[in-house]
This record gives sequence, C-alpha cells and structure tokens, in this order.
Amino acid sequence: PRLDRAVNIADLRRMAGRRLPRPIFDYIDGGADDEVALANNAGAFGRYEILPDTLVDVSAIRTETRLFGQPAAWPLVLAPTGLTRMFHPDAEAAVARAAARHGLPYALSTMGTTRIEDWARNFAGPRVFQIYVFKDRGLTTEFVQRCKAAGVHGLALTVDTPVAGNRERDRRNGLSLPPRLTLSSLMSFALHPGWSLPALTGSKFDLANVSHRVDVLAGQSMSLFDYIGAQFDRSVTWKDVEWLAAEWGGPLSIKGVMTPEDARRAVASGASGVMLSNHGGRQLDTAPAPVDQIAGVRDALGDSVEIICDGGVRRGSDVVKALALGADGCSIGRPYLYGLAAGGEAGVDRALTLLRSEFELTMALMGVNDVERLERRHVRRSPLAGE
Ligand code: FNR
Repeated sequence: PRLDRAVNIADLRRMAGRRLPRPIFDYIDGGADDEVALANNAGAFGRYEILPDTLVDVSAIRTETRLFGQPAAWPLVLAPTGLTRMFHPDAEAAVARAAARHGLPYALSTMGTTRIEDWARNFAGPRVFQIYVFKDRGLTTEFVQRCKAAGVHGLALTVDTPVAGNRERDRRNGLSLPPRLTLSSLMSFALHPGWSLPALTGSKFDLANVSHRVDVLAGQSMSLFDYIGAQFDRSVTWKDVEWLAAEWGGPLSIKGVMTPEDARRAVASGASGVMLSNHGGRQLDTAPAPVDQIAGVRDALGDSVEIICDGGVRRGSDVVKALALGADGCSIGRPYLYGLAAGGEAGVDRALTLLRSEFELTMALMGVNDVERLERRHVRRSPLAGE
C-alpha cells in the first residue's frame, strides 16, 4: 500500500480494512455491546475546544517529557495489545522498531505474541510490560522476575478485565485462536491474500509469555472470550496491587481506573500512576470517556502521580487537550495497529509520524511552545456540547 497517501489515522484504518480479513479487522476495530463507549472515547475529544494564545514565538516547540520514569520524545505511549501477530507477521518487533525510532514507550501485553526477553533485547525504547493476573498466580511472580531480568522499566496492571467484554462482532464472526477457516469466514480470508494465515498457525502463533504454563490453546481453537473466562483470575483486589507494588518496586501504573476514588486507592496501594481507560470500549460499555475523567482525577491526586489518558486518541490535538486537562501523556492502541496491519513497521511509523506532526502543529497554532506550558485554561467544553 502507498502509506504516504494516508494523511491521517482514519486513512490508515481504511487501508487496514482493505488488507485484513473481516474477522481480524473487526477484532481490532470493534468494542463491547452497542459500542457506545468506543464511539464516545473519540467523540469526547471533539467536545473540547482549544483556546489559543496569540503572538507567542513558536519557532521551536519543546515536546520532550518523562513517562514511566524514562525520557519520551513526546507524551505518547504505545498501549499493550494482544495477539499482535494476527495483524502482521512482523508483530511486536515491527511496532518496537517504530516506537524506538520515535523515542516512545511501548507496552508489551501479557497476551502478546513475543517473549518478554526477545522483545526487551530488541526494543531500545522505554519498556513497559502489561500484566494480567492468571489463575496460575505463579505466572505473576514469574512476570515480575522476568521483567526485572530483562530490564523492563515499568509495569501496567490491567484491572478492567476480570472477565472478557461482550464483543459481538467477534461472536458473530466466530473469531477463534488461532483463526480457523469456517465456512462463513472462508470468503473473507480467501479475498485477502495479502494477509497470511500460514503465519499464524503452528508454532509461529502462540501467547508467547504464558503458553509454557497455560497451554489451553495447544492443538485446539477457542474463542478469546472462553480463554479469558478459563484463565484470568477474577478474584484480584487492591491487596494484590499492594503485593505487586512491593514485589516490583519500580514504576507501576493501574490501567483501567476511571474514577477519582479508585485513583486514590491505586496510589494508596503503591501505584505510581494510573492509566484512565475503558480498554478502548472493549470491556464495560457506556463507561465514561477517559478524557472526561482527567480533570477530576488530577484534582484528586495532585501533581506527583502520573496520569495517562488511554483511549480514543485519533489526532495529535487530542493529546494536546488531554495534557491541558491535566494528563502527563496519552496512549494509543488502534491507531498503531491500523498502521501495522496496513504496512507493518512502515505503517506504524506512518501512524506515529502523523500524530506527532499534528501534535506539534496544534501547539504552534495555539501559541504554546512547550508541553510543560499546557494549562487547563487552554481548553473548555464546547458550548454546543451541553452539560
Ligand atoms: C487492546 N487492549 C489491551 N489492553 C491490555 O491491557 N491488554 C491487552 O492485551 C489488550 N489487547 C488489545 C487488543 C486490541 C486489538 C485492542 C484494540 C486493544 C486495550 C489497549 O491497551 C488500549 O487500552 C486501547 O486500545 C485504547 O483505545 P484506542 O487507542 O484503541 O482507542
């Protein structure tokens, strides 16, 4: 595909839609239930206006910051996404190379398709590992040890997935792991030869960080919903956060916190930050948009706790708004996955380049030449948005 023809993330999404079989595209693109939270995550950014300062020298824009205790070229994180090899055979390695080139943190998922050690060895940027707690609790202890040994900088504990959300597109498509040719999906797979099923089958596809202990997928095919139901531990509570914070001892963000009360609890339990997130609208539908929760959580936590706004970012200006409202950074899932599906490493690179240039352009147009100088007075709810 001619990636340079993509002038924004929506273009990359369309390219991904052409390249991927429908069930795989829907797995990336879809959300839970009626997809209200999914639509609202992005829509909520549109309900904020930017109030510009004029006649400021914007000949140089400073965008550098620190996230998870590490330097970042600008305030963006590549969020953890599972099953990455389904979208492109170069998988996490392609994402990591692009993230490193852009100087951005990248979080590997527990449900990822590359081993922590291989990923860490090849990813020079700030390394975050995302943890799900499996019923096999020994895995969590093992993750912490492996992350320490591999030089991982930060952990993100995802807390919005005690059970899998109701993703109706996946159910309708009969999406299974690994993907399997059913009569209904056969046409879609056959019509997308650019995407290769062989890359997924056999030894090349597995949940690289858990399958040595949790082997359910070996030799069979099952839905992600059933897998999560069988393997994830639903009994996880704040006590476990205390344990993890003590065991790890480094930057720890709780991903999926949504309210000031929970954010306070996260900090009291030893976390250094929160990722405000509804899992990209894939878990609890009609949960609030993360961007709308930033100001309240910042007011509750004060300045020292790291807040990352996760979900719905499709423009560089969305990151500007989140920062002005009080976030330290944003994270993105689908935007880089659309790029990966559309063109591998070059596609991820394209997604990051587009967002970065939109970010700087917005800063210049609004007369702010330093990310540190974004303030709440720079944004307001649009009068048209109502209350
Ligand atoms: C995700 N997300 C996710 N989160 C997580 O903590 N562990 C995971 O394994 C996954 N897997 C995953 C797969 C796919 C295909 C998507 C799209 C998302 C959620 C992800 O980290 C992030 O919260 C959302 O993607 C943010 O919303 P946007 O940027 O996609 O709108």
